[in-house]
Amino acid sequence: MSLPTGSMKDRNCMITGASNGIGKEVAHQLAAQGATLYLVCRNKERGENALKEIKEKSGNDKLTLLLADLSDQAAVKKLAEDFLATGEPLHVLVNNAGIFNLKFEKSVDGIEKVYATNHLAYFILTEMLLPRIKESAPSRIVNVTSRGHKWAKSIYPLSEAFFDGFEAYGGTKLSNILYTRNLSRKLQGTGVTVNCTHPGDIETGLARNNTGWPSMILGMLKPYFSSVETGAESTVHLAASQDVLHTSGEYFVGTRVKRSSAPSYDLGLGSELRELSLKMTGLSDSAN
Ligand SMILES: NC(=O)c1ccc[n+]([C@@H]2O[C@H](COP(=O)([O-])OP(=O)(O)OC[C@H]3O[C@@H](n4cnc5c(N)ncnc54)[C@H](OP(=O)(O)O)[C@@H]3O)[C@@H](O)[C@H]2O)c1
Repeated sequence: MSLPTGSMKDRNCMITGASNGIGKEVAHQLAAQGATLYLVCRNKERGENALKEIKEKSGNDKLTLLLADLSDQAAVKKLAEDFLATGEPLHVLVNNAGIFNLKFEKSVDGIEKVYATNHLAYFILTEMLLPRIKESAPSRIVNVTSRGHKWAKSIYPLSEAFFDGFEAYGGTKLSNILYTRNLSRKLQGTGVTVNCTHPGDIETGLARNNTGWPSMILGMLKPYFSSVETGAESTVHLAASQDVLHTSGEYFVGTRVKRSSAPSYDLGLGSELRELSLKMTGLSDSAN
């Protein structure tokens, strides 16, 4: 269960992908609880519209728009550096921004774009903000993953020749869980928790980059999808509820801890992912 209105009023929260879907609804709900929000969006107009809507509905004007294309490593690093330069504490980081592509696309860094957005951006932002998140303890990191992690066959980015959209998405969502568990072990005793969540099957814009049969199938499945309010429930719970104050390294569906796939518990694979991510981003291991 989440806290009542006003209970987050001394908490600074950063939410990525706050211009649409689950991230925007999480922002609505945390704003209603009085939190100070840093909303990360890639598009200025969509970001400003979201901020306006959230301010009007919640009456909370402690909202700041931060612009960054999270598929671009330099932009993610600048976002983290700019936030650190403000000197503000950070009590909650919600890594939520994500994409699902059926066609292979490269980021500006030449990396498969789903991998760059869904995994490497979570990794860079978290690792760079970690010193501040630790200073701000008790604090929390929430990684939005998916039950689609079960489609994964690898934690490495797929090449164009062997690209499969479901496998690529699944690999990044498995990476979200492996990273959560790897980081949670490193953060023991720091007062920082890190959990991940599958938000449910939610009607959002996630597959809007794709045309043809996937859009048709999604259209047919719409009646079976839940609302964004339901989709935000688990993330808001992990960000705000006293019930999970000391819970870390877990995979949630709704407000319950659930079993994820067998590979997602593989600590060796988690360490391999950390090494790979450090190499691909040029970061040093700040959590050690
Ligand atoms: N919907 C579901 O059924 C479902 C199920 C399981 C997991 N999830 C996870 O939930 C999370 C949110 O997805 P959603 O369903 O809410 O999708 P969505 O409606 O498409 O929202 C995604 C958000 O991420 C932002 N974003 C995408 N690429 C970005 C980039 N390069 N830089 C900055 N922001 C970027 C989008 O910005 P724009 O507004 O500019 O596009 C949007 O605000 C994702 O991690 C997804 O994997 C969703």
